[in-house]
Amino acid sequence: MQRAKDKGLISINLIDIRDYGQGKHRQIDDYQYGGGAGMVMMVGPLSECIEELLMKRDYDEIIFLTPDGVNLEQGLVNKLSLGSAYLLICGHYKGIDERIRENYVTMEISIGDYVLSGGELPAAVLVDSISRVVPGVLNDGSSALTDSFQDSLLSPPVYTRPSEYKGWQVPEILRSGNDAAIDEWRRTQALERTKQRRPDLLEDSL
Ligand code: ADE
Repeated sequence: MQRAKDKGLISINLIDIRDYGQGKHRQIDDYQYGGGAGMVMMVGPLSECIEELLMKRDYDEIIFLTPDGVNLEQGLVNKLSLGSAYLLICGHYKGIDERIRENYVTMEISIGDYVLSGGELPAAVLVDSISRVVPGVLNDGSSALTDSFQDSLLSPPVYTRPSEYKGWQVPEILRSGNDAAIDEWRRTQALERTKQRRPDLLEDSL
C-alpha cells in the first residue's frame, strides 16, 4: 500500500469521526434504543462527515464494513479496482445507527464469518486487496493475475534457490527450462491443490 501511495496510484484519506462528535467529550456513540449492551455510533456525526465528503467529490460506492455484508472475494476485489473513489465507513462498538445504512451506504462488505472489534482492519484488508490489483502497484505486473483465486484456483507451489536444502529438492521440471512443461505442471498442481483443499472453488467455476 505504501508503494502504491508513493507512486501516486492510490491515495487514502483517514478521518477521525470524533472530529464530528458533539459537546465537550466530542460524543460519537450512545446507548441503544430498546436497551441492550453495547454502544451505537450516532447518526449525527457520521451524517455530517459523509455530507461534507460528498460536497467535495463523488464516490463509486459508500461501503460499510460489517459482518452481515457480502463476503469479500477476488471477483469483487477486481471489480472494485476499476472504480476511482470509495468512501469506507468503519463501525465500532455495537454498530452504527441504522439510518446511516438506509440513507447513505450503497454496499456492505464482510471480510469473513467472524466478528472483529471494529471496521478498521476489514477496511485495511479491502484497501490492500484492491490496491495490489491496480496496474503498476506490484513490481511484477503479471504476479497479481497469477495469484490464488484469480482464476478460481489456488496457487501452485513455488520454490527459490537453493535447488537443494537438507536433501530437499526443488522439482526437476521447474529447472528444466521447458516453459510449456512448466506451465502444464503448474496448472496440474494448482488443480490438484484446489481439489484437495477447496473443492467448492471448482464447483463455483463450473
Ligand atoms: N466488522 C467487524 N467484523 C467484521 C467483519 N468480519 N467484516 C467486516 N467488517 C467487520
